[in-house]
Amino acid sequence: MDLGLRGRTALVGGASAGLGRASAERLAGEGCRLALWSRGGEGLERAAEEIRRTYSVEVVTIAGDAAEPETAARVAAEATRALGQVDILVLNAGGPPTSDATQTDAAEWRRSFQLLAITPIELATLLLPGMRERGWGRIVAIMSSGVRQPSPELGYSSAGRSALQAWLKTIAPEVIANGVTVNGVLPGRLDTARVASLDRARAERAGTTPEEVRTKLEASIPAGRYGAPDELGAYVAWLCSDPARYQTGTFVPIDGGMLRALP
Ligand SMILES: NC(=O)c1ccc[n+]([C@@H]2O[C@H](COP(=O)([O-])OP(=O)(O)OC[C@H]3O[C@@H](n4cnc5c(N)ncnc54)[C@H](OP(=O)(O)O)[C@@H]3O)[C@@H](O)[C@H]2O)c1
Repeated sequence: MDLGLRGRTALVGGASAGLGRASAERLAGEGCRLALWSRGGEGLERAAEEIRRTYSVEVVTIAGDAAEPETAARVAAEATRALGQVDILVLNAGGPPTSDATQTDAAEWRRSFQLLAITPIELATLLLPGMRERGWGRIVAIMSSGVRQPSPELGYSSAGRSALQAWLKTIAPEVIANGVTVNGVLPGRLDTARVASLDRARAERAGTTPEEVRTKLEASIPAGRYGAPDELGAYVAWLCSDPARYQTGTFVPIDGGMLRALP
């Protein structure tokens, strides 16, 4: 199927690794020109070089910490300058720390809300007017199954992402008439560095090994395994596509059947 994305421009967050990189690769494979954003360094430049070489598309990089209040404005400006305009915005960055959800602290709440809610909301707010004027735009947020079913050690994550989800759901009906769709994906457990570090932390708390943690979790997923990042990246590309123009305000689990409740 032709996704109708050739020549579109995309700003992809958390794009040096994991789910962001997998999404960027799929968009590059569809012929998008890309701005890859993460905190920067060798990993980001390597990802850009590999994507350029594999897909023969223009790729620029932007370094910035999503947990810092001034980052969104700079990233929006740099991406617009480099690409001319931003048609597609993939909201994504690293996850917050784990904690005992009954023992959280105010400084980490501020950092986590900046990372998971304020920065993505500001970025989307800055880029939406151009999308609406041009009559075409896509916003896709990479969130977490935790917004539907919170896990005990990821309280910062579920709460911060739920704020973003509520805002995205609020704006989706406001902008669909201008050709802009707003959706999210909810990863369950996909095989990335982030999930490996969550497994290590859980193993430490339980006095077991990360391998045992993984085996147990895989047994609880109907698909019987962790997902591959591309299994989410492919769906992000679909949400960004032209044929997906009638899908908005949805938050779709990519979790091998892990969430058992009805939406
Ligand atoms: N994998 C899963 O199954 C899963 C499940 C639920 C939720 N999630 C969430 O989905 C998001 C992506 O997860 P992932 O598994 O792809 O993680 P990952 O493999 O650790 O990749 C995270 C990406 O975000 C960038 N990043 C980290 N902190 C950042 C910051 N403060 N500002 C800007 N960029 C930052 C990293 O690059 P740099 O180091 O270069 O900054 C990297 O490109 C995370 O928020 C994670 O919590 C993932």
